Order: sequence, then structure tokens, then C-alpha cells
Amino acid sequence: MGREISYRPLVEADLPLMTDWLNQVHLRAFYQRDPTTAAEVAAKYGPRIRGEAPAHCSLALMDGAPFGYLQCYRVADWADWREAIGVEHGVAIDLFIGEPGLIGRGIGRRMLDGFVKVALGRYPDERLCWIAHELENHAARQCSTAAGFSPVKTFLDDGRASILMVRQGSALTPPNA
Ligand SMILES: CC(C)(COP(=O)(O)OP(=O)(O)OC[C@H]1O[C@@H](n2cnc3c(N)ncnc32)[C@H](O)[C@@H]1OP(=O)(O)O)[C@@H](O)C(=O)NCCC(=O)NCCS
Repeated sequence: MGREISYRPLVEADLPLMTDWLNQVHLRAFYQRDPTTAAEVAAKYGPRIRGEAPAHCSLALMDGAPFGYLQCYRVADWADWREAIGVEHGVAIDLFIGEPGLIGRGIGRRMLDGFVKVALGRYPDERLCWIAHELENHAARQCSTAAGFSPVKTFLDDGRASILMVRQGSALTPPNA
């Protein structure tokens, strides 16, 4: 058993921390390929924080200290993403662990598992959570599998071979199992 993970909404005061995390080397392979600036981070995440863009941004915390980021959004609200994954409904999740020392210690799977309930709680009329990873992102695929997601299909995300995974409800049971 690890220490308990909690979640809270991202706020404007967190943006310097987000900028620091997004420039960490361990995010370069898949999540944030190029270094980013405080202004770019404010332009991307500010509207989401203010409710001007249809996505909920959250921090994951342990003992009150933020260590990771998760976002969730209704697939139907993002036309490009809806077309890319070829589904019309459900809630999509993206995540990363910002603190490099916490990678690969079994925290990601717990962070994702607990967040499914949070994400579906924000969209009570939705039943499914989707997550997508590049095929080469073995850590993320294994993390999502460990958090109860099942592979659905492969697809191209901006030209990159990716896999779509799904999980329903709060129980660690894949749909149709
Ligand atoms: C993806 C991420 C959240 C996973 O969290 P994590 O804490 O590192 O993963 P965990 O320690 O919980 O490991 C979960 C599973 O993945 C496995 N795993 C971890 N790193 C791995 C790697 N590099 N290759 C293969 N499997 C790996 C673990 O052994 C574990 O498997 P198990 O349940 O069979 O024992 C984290 O690595 C991360 O933030 N990566 C950078 C951002 C990113 O790629 N986000 C996903 C894009 S949406």
C-alpha cells in the first residue's frame, strides 16, 4: 500500500509548476516533445482553468504535495480527437507524473485508477473512460492496463501509431469482461 493520492483542480498559481514539469526530460519522449515557455503554458491551460475550454485539469497530490497532472474532457467536445479515435461518447483522460523521482514506482497506476471516478463524476451522463498512448509508450500502456483499461484498437494520432484503451465505471473490470 502506498500513500493516499488525492486530486484537486489546477489553478493559475500552479502554472509555474506546470511549466517546470512540462520541461522535464522524462516528458520529452511522448507528452511534451519540445521545451515550452510560461507564456505557452498559460495560453494552453489558462482557458481550461477559467472554464473557457471544455476540459478539466487536475493535480494529483500525496501528503498535500502535487506530483502529477491529469486532465479529462468529453470526447464529443473535441471534434479532432473524436474523429481521430472514432468514438462519439465517453470521457478521455491524459496524465503524467511531473516529479521525475516518482516515475516507475507504481504510483501512475494508482493515480489513474483513482482518477477514473473523478472524471466520470464530472460527466455523470458518461459511462466510459478512454485513454490513448503511442504504441511505443510501453510504460503508459502497462500503467493503463494495470489501472483496468483494456485495448480497443490502434489508430493514428497525428501520424503516430497509437492504441486506444477503455475502462468503465469505478470497478477495476474491463467492459464486456
Ligand atoms: C505513464 C506514467 C504515468 C506511468 O506511471 P508510472 O508510475 O511510471 O507507472 P507504474 O510504476 O505505476 O507502472 C505501471 C506498470 O507499468 C510498468 N512499467 C513502468 N515503466 C515501464 C517501462 N518503461 N516499460 C514497460 N513497463 C513499464 C510497471 O512495471 C507496471 O506494470 P505491472 O503493473 O505489470 O507491474 C509515467 O511513466 C509518466 O508520467 N510518463 C511520462 C508521461 C506519459 O507518457 N504519459 C502518458 C501519455 S497520456
